[in-house]
Amino acid sequence: MAWSSSTTFITFAIIFFTYVTLTNVVHCLTAQKVIDSPLLTQKIHTNRTLKVDINGKGDFTSVQAAIDAVPEGNKQWIIIHVRKGVYREKVIIPRNKPYIFMRGNGKGRSAIVWSQSSSDNVESATFSVEASHFIAFGISFKNEAPTGVAYTSQNQSVAAFVAADKVAFYHCGFYSTHNTLFDYKGRHYYDNCYIQGSIDFIFGRGRSVFHSCEVFVIGDKRVSIKGSVTAQNRETEKENSGFVFNKGKLYGVGDSVYLGRAKGAFSRVIYANMYLSKTVVPQGWTNWSYSGTTENLYHAEYKCKGPGAEATGRAEWARQLTEKEVAPFLSIDFINGKEWLPVWL
Ligand SMILES: *[C@@H]1O[C@H](CO)[C@@H](O)[C@H](O)[C@H]1NC(C)=O
Ligand SMILES: *[C@@H]1O[C@H](CO)[C@@H](O)[C@H](O)[C@H]1NC(C)=O
Ligand SMILES: *[C@@H]1O[C@H](CO)[C@@H](O)[C@H](O)[C@H]1NC(C)=O
Repeated sequence: MAWSSSTTFITFAIIFFTYVTLTNVVHCLTAQKVIDSPLLTQKIHTNRTLKVDINGKGDFTSVQAAIDAVPEGNKQWIIIHVRKGVYREKVIIPRNKPYIFMRGNGKGRSAIVWSQSSSDNVESATFSVEASHFIAFGISFKNEAPTGVAYTSQNQSVAAFVAADKVAFYHCGFYSTHNTLFDYKGRHYYDNCYIQGSIDFIFGRGRSVFHSCEVFVIGDKRVSIKGSVTAQNRETEKENSGFVFNKGKLYGVGDSVYLGRAKGAFSRVIYANMYLSKTVVPQGWTNWSYSGTTENLYHAEYKCKGPGAEATGRAEWARQLTEKEVAPFLSIDFINGKEWLPVWL
């Protein structure tokens, strides 16, 4: 009996130590992979920093004032450090100011907030980036315009308008209801971001990878319309735009949602390796407000999990991809990331 229990003890001890060692290994591996602000700072290699501090302890108290101070035609990376605080202002990065790295103190701590609803998406945007080579880390963009039929049935409230090539967001938050993220054009990378909305809230003609992002659907007050997460607007076969969601999760409260609706005739959206909650309607995709053939729509899924990933009941044009079909979309080469991204996974 005594012998047996000490054997049991030793067995447990071995299992325990193996567990601890393995956990450490796994932990180290993940720790290496975490894309944080020091890593990005190191990669872009610059010593030019402008500090924005709402309490007056930096170089500026407004984010836009710091951007205004960046020289036109800027050619070297410059860090704009947005310290903890809620910055109530509209912020625009104009076309002639590339190479800005906007670094917050975390998406829960540094936020740019405005409240505007407009029939013009661009006009409503809290944050607009029109310059290429822009990176943001750890900052939230929010449009607080009131939601519901009375306010936004015609109008949109964009949190971020991304209208340039080679733009990346790491650990950022995007908050609004109707049309949150206008991914207008260019190659973009979103890593570990949080995107919240109710209707068509990731839309445009960007060529974009959403890696390990959290997409949160909030209920819309309208009863008869189900919202859609994406409204991708690829218009021709030649156009190389499309949204790729790889890993991460899509969930929400309130009404059910479509994964995407056909905005352009060649609308292209792929959800791969993602958790999809029951918030996703069984049909998955919609051609609502689109009258053409559904033949050219590229509405696809690959190895998604969760109650919302059930393939039976999907729209007839929806595709479940094979490993070979999905491969080009899961490679960072889809956005030529190796050429311009400071860090990718
Ligand atoms: C910043 O970097 C430049 C070029 O690498 C260098 O010439 C300059 O001395 C540096 N300035 C400071 C304050 O370190
Ligand atoms: C809708 O947009 C128009 C102009 O684009 C604006 O004047 C109006 O105030 C907006 N409505 C609401 C409810 O915000
Ligand atoms: C649009 O979707 C509905 C529902 O899935 C389908 O019955 C209809 O045929 C589709 N329209 C076209 C043009 O394919």
